[in-house]
Formats: sequence, C-alpha cells, structure tokens
Amino acid sequence: MEKNLKDGWLDIPVDPTLDLFEEIAKLKLEKNAIILAHYYQDADIQEIADYTGDSLGLSRKAEQTKADMIVFAGVHFMAETAKILNPNKKVVIPDVLAGCSLSDSCPPSLFKKFKEKNPEHKVVSYINCSAEIKALSDVICTSSNAVSIVNSFSKDQPLIFAPDKNLGHYVSKKTGREMLLWDGACMVHEIFSQEKIIKLKHRYPAAKIIAHPECEEDILELADMIGSTTELLKYSQQDTSQEFIVATESGILHQMIKNSPHKTFIPAPPTNNCACNECPHMKRNTLEKIYTCMKYEIPAIEIEEELRIAAKKPIDRMLEISNRAGIQ
Ligand code: 13P
Ligand code: SF4
Repeated sequence: MEKNLKDGWLDIPVDPTLDLFEEIAKLKLEKNAIILAHYYQDADIQEIADYTGDSLGLSRKAEQTKADMIVFAGVHFMAETAKILNPNKKVVIPDVLAGCSLSDSCPPSLFKKFKEKNPEHKVVSYINCSAEIKALSDVICTSSNAVSIVNSFSKDQPLIFAPDKNLGHYVSKKTGREMLLWDGACMVHEIFSQEKIIKLKHRYPAAKIIAHPECEEDILELADMIGSTTELLKYSQQDTSQEFIVATESGILHQMIKNSPHKTFIPAPPTNNCACNECPHMKRNTLEKIYTCMKYEIPAIEIEEELRIAAKKPIDRMLEISNRAGIQ
C-alpha cells in the first residue's frame, strides 16, 4: 500500500474536468463518509466538510460519528486521534505527510526520559502530539480546555505540561501554578511580529487584537482576547467591535468573514515577508487529495492496538472533564 504513495498522497492523476465538489459529495454518500476539517484548512475544504471546528470539537465529532469512514482534513495527529477513538472505522487523511512542528518538537524517547526524571509529576499533554506522547500522558488537553484540565488536579500535584511551552506558560499564568514545561512550540504561532502588530494597531486603532494561546508572550500581552480558534471565532461574532487583528493561522478568517460579513478581519503579520501566517502542514491538503483518499481509501491511519489503548485513556479523561465543565 505504502509504495503507491508519492510524497504522502496517492500518485494518481485526477481528471481536471471533474467537478470535485460533486464527486466528493457522491463519495460521501457511497462510502457513508464524514469529512472533518480544521479551521486552518483552505476555504474550499471548509465548505465541503460536514463539520469544521477546533481540535476539541473535531475530537468530539470523531468520537460521536456513525459514519463508516472519517476523512480528516487536518494534520496527522488529528487523524490519529480520530483513529484512536474509532479503531473499527476507516480513517483517511488526504496527505499523510501533513505533520505538525509542535508535535515533532516532542520526540517520545526524550520525553520518556524527561518524565522518568520527574516521577512525582503527572503529565498534561496538548492534543498536538503523537500517539506515543499521548500514551505517556495522564490527560490530554486542547486550547479550549487546558485551564480546566490543569485545574482538575489538586494544587499540590506537580505537573508536567507538554509539548507547547507557550500554551503551558499561558495556562500557568491563568491557573497560578508552576508547571514543568516541555520546550516545544508551533512554527506558525511563534513567528508573529510584535512590531508589525503594533504598527497595524496604529493604523486601525479601534481594532481588537485577538490571539491564540500558542502565540509567544509578547504577542499575548498585546491581545484584548486570548482563546482557541472556536473561542476567537465566537468572540469575533459577539463583540461589538467592527475590526479585528487576528493572531492565529489565517484559515480561521474564512469562518470569521462568513459569520460577520460586515466586519473587517486583518491577519496579524509574521516576522517574514508574508502578510498573513499559514501552516504549511495544514495547507498540504487539497480537494484533489481529499477526492483520491476517499476514492481509493489511501492513505489510511493504522495504529498498533496496545499503543491505541494507552493513548485513548488520557483522551477519554479529557473528554470526561470537558463534558463535566460544559466546555463546547
Ligand atoms: P485549536 O484547534 O485547539 O484552536 O488549536 C489550533 C492548532 O494549532 C491546531 O493545530
Ligand atoms: Fe502544528 Fe502549528 Fe500547524 Fe497547528 S498551526 S498544525 S500547531 S504547526
């Protein structure tokens, strides 16, 4: 099976005259498939998806779906999480090389040693990590529920937070508790330019700055509101401001504009020469790759059963705590 893949997706030419929106809709019916897309996907992919959401929402949908096939338009750890929750369903990903710099910043062998050096600590891991790291964790969190998850431990319980040091630092501040932070970061969220954002704010003085907690502290200090992608989206709808400078991956702007067409959304600029900030991993997915992965059911996520069971436990724990706290 693997030999048919070229650079992470199936190397079969797609007829350019095909209406891919129509073909994908047909395949969805034929295969009883559900397409789950993260907010960082291209607008076309968000539009063909049955559900578009943040990491927590996507995990919930993956857990609840009755579909036979889950098509995960996101990155590898997300599709892997869907498979961990649904061992009997086919989970396909448009491009198996759609990785995550944050997940990659936490190699399991090194993390295991780090954990062994701190045996009295419990481990809270951000969902942006591999199944191996999940299996080494006590509970998983997402950016929507990280504060509640950390608060679910008694104050005297020492904690390790992995792999995102920026989210870990933010959660430490919000909860007032020290945690041992793994030194990982997201390549997208760590390159926002404070200087350029300040300049933008001078041009749009009424704009609210809204930021994802994966951003570095100097960016979060400028923010009027900090939250997961779903929380940023909700805030942009509910707040009376007409202009927003958005410090997260620019794919989320599609939903923001769709939900509030009369408002202005300005992507916060990174330190490089680009005007907005895109995740190269998320952007590996295309409609063509979604079509081929659905048609040929390749690349599919497979996971060894012992690892799956160990990785599922802390995800289940997260879902339980979030449900109890009423976090959507
Ligand atoms: P959320 O979907 O939890 O907002 O996280 C953003 C992200 O970086 C996903 O890779
Ligand atoms: Fe990973 Fe960052 Fe891309 Fe999210 S935006 S998938 S954390 S590299």
